Amino acid sequence: MAKTHLMLLFLLCSFIKIECSLSGFDKITKLPGQPKVGFQQYSGYIIVDKTNMKEKAFFYYFVEAERDPASKPLVLWLNGGPGCSSVGIGGFSEHGPFRTNGNGLVKNKCSWNSEANMLYWESPAGVGFSYSSEKSKMNDELTARDNLVFLKRWFMKFPQYSQRELFLMGESYAGHYIPHLAQLMTQSNKKQRVFNLKGIALGNPVLDYVTDFNSRAEFLWSHGVISDSTYNIFTSVCNYSRLMSEFYRDSLSSTCSGVIGEVNKETSRFVDIYDVTLDICIASVFAQSKVISPQQVINNIDVCLEDETVNYLNRKDVQKALHARLVGVDKWNVTSNILDYDHLDVEKPTISLIGSLVMEGIPVLVFSGDQDSVIPLTGSRTLVHGLAKQLGLNTTVPYRVWFQGQQVGGWTQVYGNILSYATIRGAAHETPFSQPERSLVVFKSFLKGMPLPEKFS
Ligand SMILES: *[C@@H]1O[C@H](CO)[C@@H](O)[C@H](O)[C@H]1NC(C)=O
Ligand SMILES: *[C@@H]1O[C@H](CO)[C@@H](O)[C@H](O)[C@H]1NC(C)=O
Ligand SMILES: *[C@@H]1O[C@H](CO)[C@@H](O)[C@H](O)[C@H]1NC(C)=O
Repeated sequence: MAKTHLMLLFLLCSFIKIECSLSGFDKITKLPGQPKVGFQQYSGYIIVDKTNMKEKAFFYYFVEAERDPASKPLVLWLNGGPGCSSVGIGGFSEHGPFRTNGNGLVKNKCSWNSEANMLYWESPAGVGFSYSSEKSKMNDELTARDNLVFLKRWFMKFPQYSQRELFLMGESYAGHYIPHLAQLMTQSNKKQRVFNLKGIALGNPVLDYVTDFNSRAEFLWSHGVISDSTYNIFTSVCNYSRLMSEFYRDSLSSTCSGVIGEVNKETSRFVDIYDVTLDICIASVFAQSKVISPQQVINNIDVCLEDETVNYLNRKDVQKALHARLVGVDKWNVTSNILDYDHLDVEKPTISLIGSLVMEGIPVLVFSGDQDSVIPLTGSRTLVHGLAKQLGLNTTVPYRVWFQGQQVGGWTQVYGNILSYATIRGAAHETPFSQPERSLVVFKSFLKGMPLPEKFS
């Protein structure tokens, strides 16, 4: 039956000259509840590994630019976790063309496909609709290898994009995924130029866990979330990097568990640590730092009982329209609980990989939603500044405000015209979720390789 169906499609293709490329089969006719739009969407699977015994496939969602996709760059997006879905978070809750609302989808006015062709994929296998018939322990290195294979094969399906200007972006644990992937891409380019890599941007990324994790105490304290005395024990008796390193090794000391107990008690369960100023009910979708803030340690409850993205992506009609399957799982989850990832990899800094990429001439932007206490701006800013110093890059844009309209959108600094840092004012860990307009300004400047707007307009 399936075979006849395929045959029929081939025949139809050759007769009426509808798109007959490989990607044609992945074209989305219409997502249930979707408003009418003028751009194309594709989704489906790319096999990254296949033997007699096993099959590993990544699910992707590709959104072409709203206008003139042939002239626009290609942007790759990854969320973190490890184990969180880039399709569910990036694609349907941050900067994709639609957001879910009750019964269907509404247009996202600040969708990034106004500027670029956007590719979201679920990685590693075991996340979202991506699957592997063989369960194996993953880590940063293996994930990067799978991601590289995915991209090479995705370009075979979409050859018109293979030489396009390419930007890699992501947030949170993607501070590990992206530098590792970019490193493999530049290595691969040395043998044969395959990737037209033009820049990397990382939002609230984990780049060096000691600096990143230990900036949490001061952030919480300075926002009034924890008291002076708790701040003191959180910085002297047991700091967050020590606490987490004990936790990963299953050897949480009573000293550290006492400290985190105090921190949790004062924080309360009713503050979202991904945005300490936003009222609660950021959907569970946003709890993407599974490794950096495991539930067991943080003890924050999921305050949103209803999670519209989860409901939407679990609808059978939606899965059919997306060409998605559930393989080995009975439900699509925003954060995988079947992924077996080497959590100790979080302790290996990636900031030096960023340094090598900059030295190879690839522009890098690190940006921070400034209300996030999970990966606070202060840690990221220190790391970027330190890297610039180490690489001998002088300041080319001194620390200053930038504007979105007539309001300050945040602060920025640029080093050597190649390494940039920016904050997004009032933004969560997932910057485009709580500050879509400001995030779009950052996105546009990044693609153009321009500093953020200096004057208000
Ligand atoms: C965190 O604690 C560890 C272990 O006690 C210590 O070596 C390290 O210097 C501390 N880091 C910071 C930033 O306080
Ligand atoms: C999603 O969660 C359900 C139960 O909460 C579990 O049975 C299923 O295996 C999970 N799927 C993935 C991919 O994590
Ligand atoms: C950076 O600034 C220092 C001091 O002003 C100067 O000596 C050096 O040449 C500059 N480096 C670059 C790469 O411009």
